[in-house]
Amino acid sequence: MTYPKVPPTRIDFTADDRAWITARIDEVLESGNLTLGDFGRQFEQLFAAGHGVKHAIAVNSGTASLEIMLRAMNVTGKDVLVPANTFFATAAAVISAGGNPVLMDTDVATLSTSLAEIERRFTPQTVGIMIVHIAGLITDQMPAIAAFAQKKGVWLMEDAAHAQGSTLNGKHAGTFGLAGSFSFYPTKVMTSAEGGMIVTDDERMNTEARLYRDQGKASFLQNTHIRMGYNWRMSEPHAVIGLRHLEKISDMISARRHIAARYDAAFANQNSLAPVAIPKGCVSNYYKYVVMLPEGVDRAALKKWLRDERNVHCSGEVYEFPLHKHDVLAHLDPGDLKQAEIACGRQMCLPIFASMTEAQADQVIAAIADAKKAGLL
Ligand SMILES: Cc1ncc(COP(=O)(O)O)c(C=O)c1O
Repeated sequence: MTYPKVPPTRIDFTADDRAWITARIDEVLESGNLTLGDFGRQFEQLFAAGHGVKHAIAVNSGTASLEIMLRAMNVTGKDVLVPANTFFATAAAVISAGGNPVLMDTDVATLSTSLAEIERRFTPQTVGIMIVHIAGLITDQMPAIAAFAQKKGVWLMEDAAHAQGSTLNGKHAGTFGLAGSFSFYPTKVMTSAEGGMIVTDDERMNTEARLYRDQGKASFLQNTHIRMGYNWRMSEPHAVIGLRHLEKISDMISARRHIAARYDAAFANQNSLAPVAIPKGCVSNYYKYVVMLPEGVDRAALKKWLRDERNVHCSGEVYEFPLHKHDVLAHLDPGDLKQAEIACGRQMCLPIFASMTEAQADQVIAAIADAKKAGLL
């Protein structure tokens, strides 16, 4: 029997989207305003409105948005708490901005970190806390974490690269602290090809972010450099692509939720694999649909079987290894990040994307059942 391919993820631009985008890129080319222009401003305004914040600042990657936020807070020589279970860029941005990332262990239930772990790592050298909403899940401890940061007089920022459109008690990812960072890399729930966004209600952060993204220049037309900025600008063609997806983001996320509900129904009360539970009060964007495998399951063998025997392609894990397991960051290992190692070691991501069909989801569900029969689970 041959099975149609189920890809791990897909980013879609319909024929209508492509016509819409190319018409506007044509306009941009004709106008000669190729960067920091009207489409960028429209993208920022729509993004800010969607998040209920005063300011959104478009940049050319999610890594740039993180580094700008950190530079704006002048972390040079200071300690910033960062989860061990995150993407390289979360910690690398701290280092690039001159700070010291201090790694925190993982709460396996939420894939995030816990208030208890923040308290354990907190020292008088700590100036800020970076929270990452892995897979689109917002920990239900966010309000308590925000209150702790406020009590200690340090900033809280969010790397919300995975969590555009996720909410906790109705509040959007990226809006719990001083500023939030988003990525539009093409694996994300929406894309601008490359790009990132900072959201904030803070006037100073807004001003600083705009300075930093344009080489630290005093203004667009003035060649006086007053900050150690960089070229972190978003070009107009990128803004046009992002704007199109942003206009459709609610529908795209609803489609992901529909697939997730189908998986939930199939995998409820199973003893082979357990979907990671959505934290209380959280509505996930289902950037990833993460399941935890029972101890002892050979993840690589299971994924290979699903691919070779059922044409079901699972993506890489959200993170296969925590940060301290990468050679270049091994020096950050405090030696007690065991929960992060468990969380990274046992998770697997099932295919999910906005244009996924029910038939594709059912093919995945059947393939998992067959893998179980074949003894891989
Ligand atoms: C958690 C996290 N932070 C930061 C980034 C960096 O974003 P970008 O690739 O847009 O620089 C990504 C993704 O790529 C990410 O997943």
